[in-house]
Amino acid sequence: MSSIYIHIPFCAKKCFYCDFFTSLSLQNKEEYLKVIKEELLLRKNYLENKKVKTIYIGGGTPSLLSEKELNDIFRQIYKIFNVSGKVEITIEANPDDLDKEYLRKLRKTPINRLSIGIQSFFDEDLRLMNRRHNAEQGIYAVKRAQDSGFFNISGDLIYGLPGMTSEKWIKNLNIFFDLKIQHLSAYHITYEPNTVFYKKRNSGKLKEIPEEESISQFKILKNLAGKNNMIHYETSNFGKKGFFSEHNTAYWKQKHYLGIGTGAHSYNGESRQFNIKNIGEYIKKVKKRSGFFEKEILSDADKYNDYIITTLRTMWGADISYIEKNIGEKFVKFIFDKAKKHIDNGNLTYKKNTLYITEKGKFIEDYILEDLFYF
Ligand SMILES: C[S@@+](CC[C@H](N)C(=O)[O-])C[C@H]1O[C@@H](n2cnc3c(N)ncnc32)[C@H](O)[C@@H]1O
Ligand code: SF4
Repeated sequence: MSSIYIHIPFCAKKCFYCDFFTSLSLQNKEEYLKVIKEELLLRKNYLENKKVKTIYIGGGTPSLLSEKELNDIFRQIYKIFNVSGKVEITIEANPDDLDKEYLRKLRKTPINRLSIGIQSFFDEDLRLMNRRHNAEQGIYAVKRAQDSGFFNISGDLIYGLPGMTSEKWIKNLNIFFDLKIQHLSAYHITYEPNTVFYKKRNSGKLKEIPEEESISQFKILKNLAGKNNMIHYETSNFGKKGFFSEHNTAYWKQKHYLGIGTGAHSYNGESRQFNIKNIGEYIKKVKKRSGFFEKEILSDADKYNDYIITTLRTMWGADISYIEKNIGEKFVKFIFDKAKKHIDNGNLTYKKNTLYITEKGKFIEDYILEDLFYF
């Protein structure tokens, strides 16, 4: 199986926490969409005719695209690739784009999963983040999407925001679960260089919440998600049974994927490719059919580090026989040497040839991963 990711780098407004590669100018949009179709054709052999089981239109704000623009992309994908009859097709959508008319149009595309950027159900949080929508629009976007016939919906929430208390986070989660959404991606806010949040924090205008409060909000998240039958299958991802993100799961299970568009990555087991992060240059170079990506051949150490970082964050854990068979025996010895102290401390557990981060270990996940890395 394989996957296709399409990056739509346009946004109508820049959120103050976001460092994703996006542009506020839509000037190049038409040209960009044309070039995306050219790149799909140029890279027709990348997936070696493997069945495409997931397609993800991410951004940026792909919900700025019209029904025709989306269907043009899908037509090209179906023409070139071996798309499965049971393909999961997700689009990331901002709540204020999801009016009745637009949802009706989305239903005329092959899209069968929506990932809605709700972020918070509180107006003051949304204002702080410089989001385009307000709390009411978040709620109604979900209800309208459900009324329009979308039954596989994911919502994004951000916690640990400045000024966020545990009580407020509980309220956010309860509103979320009352909406009967099938999947939740909940991210703790991170302060990325070159964002307004980062600058404001460094100049003292924004105050990070204390670490104990972050830990308490993560515990609340796990606890309330569990009570609402959401399975915690990856650090930031929770889903009802049968509604995990197949696309992200494919990344975490080492499946091959083709990333199309500026800044998109691709992976085929042996190398990673990174498309250039500049809309104008990307357009120019795809048209010239060369120089639009960089390629990195993966060493065994890269493969091991990638495997650890993707699998240990999931409930499926790191399969030691995979490491032995596909990466090398020396890494099996390495991981056991490194893991021993974490197993003894109860932060890692080893069962049926698989290494897992325990519930206790989840709170220091990044530290454990770093410790298991091969440098
Ligand atoms: C790149 S956005 C694309 C989705 C869509 N444009 C939107 O904003 O609704 C994907 C998600 O990443 C999360 N995100 C982006 N930057 C983040 C940050 N600095 N800290 C925490 N979450 C972040 C947000 O929840 C966002 O919905
Ligand atoms: S969070 Fe989403 S809408 Fe906001 S700037 Fe980033 S990609 Fe654009």
